[in-house]
Amino acid sequence: MTKPIEGFSKLSKEDKINWIAEHYTQDSAKSVAILKQYWNEDEKLQKLHDEFIENTITNFYLPLGIAPNFLINNKLYAIPMAIEESSVVAAASKAAKFWQSRGGFKTTVLGTEKVGQVHFMYHGDTEKLIAFFKLVRPRLINSVAPIVKNMEKRGGGIKSIELRNKTSDLDDYFQLHCTFETLDAMGANFINSCLEGFAHCLKEEAQQYAEFTDSEKDIEIVMSILSNYIPNCVVKAEVSCPVSDLKGHHGISAEDFAKKMVRAVNIAKVEPYRAVTHNKGIMNGIDAVVLATGNDFRAIEAGAHAYASKDGRYTSLTHASMDNGIFKFWIEIPLALGTVGGLTTLHPLVKLALEILQNPTAKELMQIVAVAGLAQNFGAVRSLVTTGIQQGHMKMHLLNILNQLGATEEEKIRLVDYFKKHTASHSAVVVAFEELRNKK
Ligand code: MEV
Repeated sequence: MTKPIEGFSKLSKEDKINWIAEHYTQDSAKSVAILKQYWNEDEKLQKLHDEFIENTITNFYLPLGIAPNFLINNKLYAIPMAIEESSVVAAASKAAKFWQSRGGFKTTVLGTEKVGQVHFMYHGDTEKLIAFFKLVRPRLINSVAPIVKNMEKRGGGIKSIELRNKTSDLDDYFQLHCTFETLDAMGANFINSCLEGFAHCLKEEAQQYAEFTDSEKDIEIVMSILSNYIPNCVVKAEVSCPVSDLKGHHGISAEDFAKKMVRAVNIAKVEPYRAVTHNKGIMNGIDAVVLATGNDFRAIEAGAHAYASKDGRYTSLTHASMDNGIFKFWIEIPLALGTVGGLTTLHPLVKLALEILQNPTAKELMQIVAVAGLAQNFGAVRSLVTTGIQQGHMKMHLLNILNQLGATEEEKIRLVDYFKKHTASHSAVVVAFEELRNKK
């Protein structure tokens, strides 16, 4: 059995690779070669990537694709998407093209408020804590003035600090529930620094507060951290058109197609098992743009799914209606995104992705990302209620299967052509591939 290792992070990159290959892989020479194959030739660029995280041994590639023809608020965008799933970019592009000739996407930012909390324990008289909080609130704000100065100059900063009594949920548990405007920054560092400042000041001030008993003075800070639940940092994106403009879907009438779409969305509204997959499809589009633009997709995922349950039951993030002959399809989703700071200024591909998006503000990026999610969902639900998902999926997955089988370029061309007229499944591809090989 492999023994634990001490001081792995202090080893050189070369030694880390050798150690991992030797202890955890069958063919260490081959493993080392694979890892090194993904190093960038440009040493400076490689070093930049190495330093994003600890213990870097190589790079992990994802394809970066482009979904063009997104008409958003009358402006045309080509959207960069970083994702491994074969059909996502194709589906987004197809939906973009579809809506481009039907007025495009319309978006509105409904709010940009970020949230952070100082969680603390207070053992004592709640009324006294309330009076204390009123007194120290301005001091809390003053205590972080140097951190907030630049953000305030640009029009952002702390929006509110509220004392919340959570003792009905947990004995002695209180919070400072704080809201922020972080403009073009995602704001995690800014918010966390402010919160830690508030926490420090709160504790110090409590110790000096003459009205408190000794145990009341002893406020215990548990943690200070931003929340990824941001129900007031929300964007809405929508498409709409006369129902009659929806014709042309596999022989289904425009009216029937609209009905099928609305019904499918309504199922995702009432059935959590379906809603999770429905929303997963939305996140296919969202995460791909979030990743390409150097944002934190885990934060976006956590926030989106929490928002999907905000009314007590997990439900669809998109909505659809058909009223007075108009079909409407829309999404409301919380998105805490940044276009400055973090990877956005460091990662050359992220910088380029933002340039392709015309260097958006964070608000503009919220709108673009929401549109990518809506388009993805429209594409997925459209396939589901018409041809079924596998037709498009397998078409896109075909090349992956052919690559797995070791098909040559010529074989790939012939088999892609063959599957334009035949239904692709994994076994059908294997059979067709073997037949083609055996013919030779
Ligand atoms: C697959 O990645 C996403 C879908 O399952 C989404 C959906 O079912 O709506 C196709």
